[in-house]
Amino acid sequence: MQSVSEIKSLRSQIKAWRQQGLSIAFVPTMGNLHQGHFSLVEKAKTLADKVVVSIFVNPMQFGANEDLDSYPRTLDADKQGLAEIGTALVFTPTVDVMYPNGLAAQSYVDVPDISMGYCGGARPGHFKGVATVVTKLFNMVQPDFACFGEKDFQQLQVIRTMVRDLSMPIEIIGVPTQREVSGLAMSSRNGYLSEQEKDTAKVLYQTLLNAGQSLEQGNKAFDAIELEAKQALEQAGLKPDYFAVAEKDNLKPATLETKEFVILAAAFLGKVRLIDNLQVSA
Ligand code: PAJ
Repeated sequence: MQSVSEIKSLRSQIKAWRQQGLSIAFVPTMGNLHQGHFSLVEKAKTLADKVVVSIFVNPMQFGANEDLDSYPRTLDADKQGLAEIGTALVFTPTVDVMYPNGLAAQSYVDVPDISMGYCGGARPGHFKGVATVVTKLFNMVQPDFACFGEKDFQQLQVIRTMVRDLSMPIEIIGVPTQREVSGLAMSSRNGYLSEQEKDTAKVLYQTLLNAGQSLEQGNKAFDAIELEAKQALEQAGLKPDYFAVAEKDNLKPATLETKEFVILAAAFLGKVRLIDNLQVSA
């Protein structure tokens, strides 16, 4: 596996592969890789000749009071894992390489509608930071495919919308959420949790499953489903941020006509913010 930190070296390798007629699939990450990330790489391997993974903790998508400084950084282990599963190249730029003119860059990418509410409401500017860094990475890697986890469902829809609206020649592939045996969605932030807290955290997915079952049985009382779920989360010791039954494609609140749902949830366990979601057809 090649490991590069400079844009110039990245571009020259990409160019060489292109001259050989090879296709490229890309997996952007912030590192501290777990089975969720590796499942994206496995999917990417089935799509293209070469898989490129980026590891970059993007300051632009963190709010002032968020965990940018304490975000887990495990570069050596990440590289080893990526090499073992057949990654062709890992790109690990520094903040200076990505933002040579500082963070108050003059240009940015904003995908306003779909970024509103849910995580976008709770984390102002977050998706602007994500859309901007992903655009920059897309321009550097110029992949044919890019894989994103359904775990971050709103992020996936922001990226799909951006690629469509801005005619980016990249196919976006969504990959199902990888979970612990308990059902807890794998996340780099789970490392902040004690074993006991992990046991509490699994209730988030259980609550999503209960709400999903209710929708499948034809329950259209979305407000009541949401309220009941928030109460269940509180009872388990979680502090719900949002719990919302939405239309899968545009994330607008579900209506009586909705057939393809996504239930989106975020909750705090102490200082740790957990997110998860469940797709349901009814
Ligand atoms: P990060 O949180 O490192 O996640 C990188 C990718 O892994 C994302 O597409 C995310 O949805 C996916 N992922 C995380 N946990 C997963 C799980 N349990 N199952 C399946 N996929 C999972 O998301 C980001 O980084 C950043 O916002 C990024 C897109 C890299 C832009 O900075």
